[in-house]
Amino acid sequence: MKSKVLFLSLLVVVVGDHPEPPAALRNGPPINPDEYSANYWINEAQTAIKKRSIRDHDVDVARNLVIFLGDGMSLQTIAAARILKGQRDGKTGEEAELYFESFPALGLVKTYCVNQQIPDSSCTATAYLCGVKGNYGTLGVTAAVKKSDCKSSVVEGNRVQSIADWALAAGKDVGIVTTTRVTHASPAGSYAKSASRNWEAYANRDVDSKDPVNCIDIAQQLVNSNPGKMFKVILGGGRNGFLPKTTLDEEGIYGKRQDGRNLIEEWRQDKIDRNVSYAYVWNRNELRSQFDTPPEYLLGLFENSHMKFNVEANQETEPTLTEMADIAIRMLSRNEKGFFLFVEGGRIDHAHHKNKAHIALDETLEFDKAVQMAGEKLPENDTLIVVTADHSHVMAFNGYSARGSSIVGISGQKDANNIPYMTLSYTTGRGARRQVSGVRTDITKEAKFGQLMWTFHAEVPLKNETHGGDDVAVFARGPHYRMFAGLYEQSQIPHIMAYASCIGPGLHAPGCNSATSPRFPLLLAAGTAISVCIHNFFGGRTIDDCNASIFVRITAVLIIIIIIL
Ligand SMILES: *[C@@H]1O[C@H](CO)[C@@H](O)[C@H](O)[C@H]1NC(C)=O
Ligand SMILES: *[C@@H]1O[C@H](CO)[C@@H](O)[C@H](O)[C@H]1NC(C)=O
Ligand SMILES: *[C@@H]1O[C@H](CO)[C@@H](O)[C@H](O)[C@H]1NC(C)=O
Ligand SMILES: [Zn+2]
Repeated sequence: MKSKVLFLSLLVVVVGDHPEPPAALRNGPPINPDEYSANYWINEAQTAIKKRSIRDHDVDVARNLVIFLGDGMSLQTIAAARILKGQRDGKTGEEAELYFESFPALGLVKTYCVNQQIPDSSCTATAYLCGVKGNYGTLGVTAAVKKSDCKSSVVEGNRVQSIADWALAAGKDVGIVTTTRVTHASPAGSYAKSASRNWEAYANRDVDSKDPVNCIDIAQQLVNSNPGKMFKVILGGGRNGFLPKTTLDEEGIYGKRQDGRNLIEEWRQDKIDRNVSYAYVWNRNELRSQFDTPPEYLLGLFENSHMKFNVEANQETEPTLTEMADIAIRMLSRNEKGFFLFVEGGRIDHAHHKNKAHIALDETLEFDKAVQMAGEKLPENDTLIVVTADHSHVMAFNGYSARGSSIVGISGQKDANNIPYMTLSYTTGRGARRQVSGVRTDITKEAKFGQLMWTFHAEVPLKNETHGGDDVAVFARGPHYRMFAGLYEQSQIPHIMAYASCIGPGLHAPGCNSATSPRFPLLLAAGTAISVCIHNFFGGRTIDDCNASIFVRITAVLIIIIIIL
């Protein structure tokens, strides 16, 4: 039994993880040094918002903010998933529509990071959650911090706040939901500041921060630091980063922490100390038992590492993304001031990295279901929903297939040697097959051809398929959705969300003052009274025409009310 467990945990270590490759060496023209500061990206966004807001006449305010992040959900992934959705319904498919494709605004964003043309999930998370671009592999810090440079990452001026910080400061509640480890790059962008995305759980002393006192691992930041410890809902995978390497989790797999800390216990203790209700759950039934009367704080860790692909998930133990997002919305909706929620379909990316196109599309459809649940639950006039991706992938949608051809099948055309090829194929990855005298192998003769987990073919042989550097889409619905149209820097996304929701240090939408206090209409009335008076006065009439005493009295009363309020 014990050796079986040991073997299982070894297996997890070997195949369960996909750290992104190191940043490439650079020998191009110098990078503009201004980009190393947070202000550069903040100003870039604020200037763009100011410009775009001229066409924004929306008076609603986004009380609630939800960002749905499809990790690696490229435009090709969206198009192919839409077709798969239609074909699963027995139709030709091309005419089908994903739920979020019906959103009224569509934009495109540039995903490059300061030192890298093609980014990873951590520098992009810093962009779409903190509004600042940083270096490849870093989280919540400016580009003044080089990857793995602990010292510069603790300098206050190099650390940036996230939209979760802004929401909490405005009295809103915050939650994160993901199918990856909750300490993985994308969700960690909402709460962690780390010179390396790999410092997840103090698991490997050689690789992790050499200074665990100053450069605290990401799991500990979630449990013991702000803003993570204030998050009302945390749901996903990643128990191993919370448990000591000598402790077995509920499913008989060891933790990976080398410091002996049990962060699930520390999370509980913090809630006890603060006298708030809480629950820790590890399986689907326990999560469901919280649906009707959820506690104030909920931590759910449903797998030792990442949650399983939807098609491989154990229905007994793993909830769906939709179920997790559902309970998160129930919990966060209790706050009258609203909430910020991050929901990630995190394994679209992992399926692509393995050239498993069918799985990537299935994960995208699961993601879309979660968006639909949220869209149907949350009113359009007070909830801004943004659906986007962090970066692209290199899956191509190619050939000249006939209408209604299986999107996960072969192209209607054959190659120059009369060998079939797939409508979806990759430029890089493990799916590269050996060619004999320049002739491709016939993939349709492979034993697993047509199965869900079958590996699609690739051109350049690589252990892991790579990200793509092309733009990704932003779909928006709700107050100020028009602000998301256009083509812009990915780091503008949280600034626009903050604008629509009247939070954060930047520009706020016109409706903000009137929505948050009665000052705005009163100020407007006082201003009108004064200007009417002045206009009449300089319009050549006498002070009597202006009826000065009445205007002065009205203005004085309004100003006193404003001061009292
Ligand atoms: C590629 O995938 C393998 C196996 O899944 C993994 O061990 C490795 O860390 C990955 N490498 C990179 C550079 O992503
Ligand atoms: C803890 O909270 C409960 C219910 O909210 C309250 O009745 C109790 O007085 C609190 N205890 C302390 C020590 O604050
Ligand atoms: C939003 O719309 C609903 C009805 O559709 C209405 O009851 C509610 O008052 C509206 N809320 C705001 C903030 O306008
Ligand atoms: Zn990736």
